[in-house]
Amino acid sequence: MNDLIKKLVEAYGPSGFEDHIRDLIHPEIESFADEISVDAMGNLIARKKGDGSGLKVMVAAHMDEIGVMVTHITEEGFCRFTNIGGVYAHTLLGSRVQFGDGRVGIIYSDRITDRSKVHGLDKHYIDVGATSRKECPVQVGDAAGFKREFVSSGKMLIAKSMDDRIGCVVAIEALKRLKKTPHDIYIVFSVQEEVGTRGAQAAANHIDPDVGIALDVTTTGDIPEAIPMAVSLGKGAAIKVKDAGMIAHHGLVQLMKKRAEAAKIPYQLEVLTGGSTDARSIQIANAGAAAGCISIPCRYVHSQSESVHADDVENAIKLLVELLAKPITV
Ligand code: CO
Ligand code: ZN
Repeated sequence: MNDLIKKLVEAYGPSGFEDHIRDLIHPEIESFADEISVDAMGNLIARKKGDGSGLKVMVAAHMDEIGVMVTHITEEGFCRFTNIGGVYAHTLLGSRVQFGDGRVGIIYSDRITDRSKVHGLDKHYIDVGATSRKECPVQVGDAAGFKREFVSSGKMLIAKSMDDRIGCVVAIEALKRLKKTPHDIYIVFSVQEEVGTRGAQAAANHIDPDVGIALDVTTTGDIPEAIPMAVSLGKGAAIKVKDAGMIAHHGLVQLMKKRAEAAKIPYQLEVLTGGSTDARSIQIANAGAAAGCISIPCRYVHSQSESVHADDVENAIKLLVELLAKPITV
């Protein structure tokens, strides 16, 4: 599975530019889905048909990652940029970014006179090695993602885009392992989550599911001076109860707990004080759906070293398979 993880987490795919990720996922799911489609926004949708006795279930994992977009280029050939999603200035100095054509740039900022402060994004730039605006190979509107190698260190898996390629891996693996299901399942590899769960919103309006399950990362409370939170790396898949954008469907939360306990899958309960996921969009689409989220605990979310635990990934896959293989009553 680490080969698949490496392939997906190292690839380029900022929000709105997910084509390449979609091309990587498509062959992975081809022989396991009954139908595959791509909608107008670019969501990749794999349908697995059930025996007709179950519900319509939408599973969502987002393909996009945070990144940057060039806003203007200085006379000297340096690219000023804006954020795509939650990119924070204190994570940036010396970073390498990669554009869609593979070109690499370095992020740095204007001179810092007070080292206790970081500049805002507007005082950062990307150096692509150009010496003038005229000969700059990058254009206004070009998007870049971070460039970092995948590292597997013991059970810790580290990458620039665990959020949410690891969710995509969980969805792919669950689809591969799911032999029979009562449900009509739509696995959506969604676009533009990091800019406001936009892809999942369009997909949920179209699919109109009874039940929605997002797969995404969540932060942990187990690092120095973290916001207190009862989620730790390596202690199990996290069942979301609440985040800043949604309260998970109570019945679905109870079912997830029940299934995890019955199958002896370690789990943790997640109350996240910030952030949200595609589950929010599914929950409030059309007349609403019973929505929840299986989260993969992750340290350093939205940095270039997002870190998850291999056991948590495995347990998230197992829990999803348990849910999809059996009847759902919520
Ligand atoms: Co994110
Ligand atoms: Zn995410």
